[in-house]
Amino acid sequence: MLTSAVLLTLAALGSAAPVAQQQCYNWKNVRIGGGGGFIPSVVFNTGKKGLVYARTDIGGAYKLSTDASGEWIPLQDEGVTSANWGDWCVDGLATDGTEVSRVYLLTGCYTNSWDPNNGSVLRSLDYGRTWEKTKLPFKVGGNMPGRGMGERLVVDPNAGRILFLGARGSNGLWKSSDYGASWSKVSSFTNTGSYAPNPDAGADSLDAAVVGISWIEFDPTSSTPGMPTKRIYVGVAEKNGENVFVSEDAGATWKPLAGAPKGMLPHKGRFDKKNKLLYITYTDGAGPYDGAAGYVQRFNQTSKSWKDITPQKDSYGFGGFSIDAQNPNVIMTASLNQWWPDANIHRSLDSGETWSPIWTWGNYPDINERYNYDVSAAPWLYDPDIPEGDSNRKRVGWMIEGLEINPFDSNNFYYGTGATLFGSKDLTNWDKPDGKITLSSLANGIEETAILGLAAPPTGPQLLSAVGDITGFSHDDVTKSPAKTWTLPTWPSSSSIDYAGKNTTTIVRVGTGGDTAQLAVSYNSGETWTVHPGAPTDKTGGKAAISADGSTIIWNNWQGTLVSVNNGPFAAPAQDLGWITTVGSDKVEPKTVYAAGSWSFLASKNGGPFTAATSGPQGTAHTIAASPFTAGTVYVTTDNGLFKSTDFGKTFSQVPGPTKAFGVSIGAKKNGKEGIFVAGWIDGTDAIFRSYDDGATWTNLNGKRGFGAIDTVPLAADLREVGKVYAGTNGRGIFVGGGC
Ligand SMILES: *[C@@H]1O[C@H](CO)[C@@H](O)[C@H](O)[C@H]1NC(C)=O
Ligand SMILES: *[C@@H]1O[C@H](CO)[C@@H](O)[C@H](O)[C@H]1NC(C)=O
Ligand SMILES: *[C@@H]1O[C@H](CO)[C@@H](O)[C@H](O)[C@H]1NC(C)=O
Repeated sequence: MLTSAVLLTLAALGSAAPVAQQQCYNWKNVRIGGGGGFIPSVVFNTGKKGLVYARTDIGGAYKLSTDASGEWIPLQDEGVTSANWGDWCVDGLATDGTEVSRVYLLTGCYTNSWDPNNGSVLRSLDYGRTWEKTKLPFKVGGNMPGRGMGERLVVDPNAGRILFLGARGSNGLWKSSDYGASWSKVSSFTNTGSYAPNPDAGADSLDAAVVGISWIEFDPTSSTPGMPTKRIYVGVAEKNGENVFVSEDAGATWKPLAGAPKGMLPHKGRFDKKNKLLYITYTDGAGPYDGAAGYVQRFNQTSKSWKDITPQKDSYGFGGFSIDAQNPNVIMTASLNQWWPDANIHRSLDSGETWSPIWTWGNYPDINERYNYDVSAAPWLYDPDIPEGDSNRKRVGWMIEGLEINPFDSNNFYYGTGATLFGSKDLTNWDKPDGKITLSSLANGIEETAILGLAAPPTGPQLLSAVGDITGFSHDDVTKSPAKTWTLPTWPSSSSIDYAGKNTTTIVRVGTGGDTAQLAVSYNSGETWTVHPGAPTDKTGGKAAISADGSTIIWNNWQGTLVSVNNGPFAAPAQDLGWITTVGSDKVEPKTVYAAGSWSFLASKNGGPFTAATSGPQGTAHTIAASPFTAGTVYVTTDNGLFKSTDFGKTFSQVPGPTKAFGVSIGAKKNGKEGIFVAGWIDGTDAIFRSYDDGATWTNLNGKRGFGAIDTVPLAADLREVGKVYAGTNGRGIFVGGGC
């Protein structure tokens, strides 16, 4: 109802569009469930039972609900927009074991020059409900190599006002003495490491950046409550020289830790304060994907001696490590990346003298598992049809950097993988002869996927999602975790999804990274797929659109624009289309497809010649969305706004309001007028906007919520319910909004 929207801002001069703020949109995550991406670490508070946080590399930080729901609560959904999208990349998380409501995040996505933003420390006094921000004078790499090493942001366990922060590159070690409000460089810490995964990869590459300081660990027994902790250990990403350092004077001076092995990168350093042992896991790469070798070392602080306590020596590198606070002789560690056949987790009851793995080989290819498996919270995580011994059957996981035993409950542990958060609530069953624990996906509420395309067909599944790293889904019910991903072909990522407007169970998707041709068609809404017989094997990614009758597919990929008719071979159009940035299809006229580029728009019927617009959209096209109601009515967003044609793209006029627009979708009609949903900018504000009057008036649908960088937000407006819209994010999954 328009009456429920309050008119707040009148448009700036020149744009004739008043913008109201929505008062009643109720945004919720579409439940993919199970996280859906890398979870670098889990951080328990040591002072308050049940207080635990998880950080993600592109989807912000979460806190476990204290009720029985087992849901993780997102802590960064308010106000993350184009100005501060990097806040969703969390490179470190620290929680204060004494003043337990205090929690800190180290945020920022990339240290490369193409990310213009410096990093931040976010600090909260209320368990992450609200945040204050300190901008740092350097960049932070929350989605960069080595992001699972850590933690690189820590609170002094004896003096909570003191925090240390290990920066990337050569930015060094930083200290705050006022609860993270201000920071200064620890000038005496000079050896910040030189390791970069691939120094020659070029400045634009994530792999060329120096990882820097990877973790900081206190010996709490070196001081007393209230006094700064004196002994502090620091691990640095360095292979060829010293890489573990110690201070005995609360960080004033530093020296290398004598006898520490060289040649591998220290991923985690953990101090057992009862037995005075420092444990360090090492891998030959920074992770999270790489690392083929490594070891686990134990430094006896009393005798100053080192012992190699590697489980299954000479096999692979190690990431996650945890000490059971209730019984510190109990320790656990995980292989960082044991790609074949599966990761292993090792548990020791005697400080690493002997180990028990979570699985061992039986008669090949049988595997003896010390666990039962429960992925009911996110069934798509696991395909039971993949046989034992097959490397696609990874049950324990991969990319295991964050592994933590609950300091208040020896039966509870969590570990993050490349796809989810697993854990158990019966961990000590492992210690019984032939005992089995239950490994479960415990990531409910964490939604950290990058959404690359959305479509909401009028019938069938409520939503179709093309998703980075986990392919994509047909969502029959967006409140429930889907049973399975799109498979056969199973590609790492899908870059685009579209349905035929008049044959809506026919859908087309494009992939990246698979080993088949990268365009597939389904005739049953994604239940089964076939690789398009005419798709070339050397083309990948980009966007495809399918004509309303399903006969014609247009595909704009990184190598050009191709068209296929009636399952024939994809071929470049006879004429030169110029530089094309996006494609679309009419949703009513059976055979029309569209293409748009820089100040250009073209239409073709049945694969025939393309006709260029005579008065086209202004600017470089981002997204084409055709009206699902009227043949020939088509919208295109550009860096100058939103443009509309009612004659199959021959002539366009600008829709008032947006000054820059990205996602666009046309939804159910209200009072006979179709709903226009746009992700873009109006009056200097970036948000998701809606208009029911051809742009005469707009409503800002965000409320307090932000969707990250607005140019990464694909939209799919619902055709079944007025006002409902799906919005994808680059890291926080999919949201569904509606209600007015
Ligand atoms: C980042 O910090 C550096 C060092 O203080 C400063 O020169 C630069 O202007 C900052 N960049 C931004 C975008 O704030
Ligand atoms: C550490 O060294 C001390 C002193 O030599 C010794 O008593 C203790 O047993 C050692 N701890 C371990 C786990 O080896
Ligand atoms: C829908 O698509 C199927 C499969 O390509 C085709 O056989 C059928 O003719 C199409 N129906 C319409 C109405 O276009």
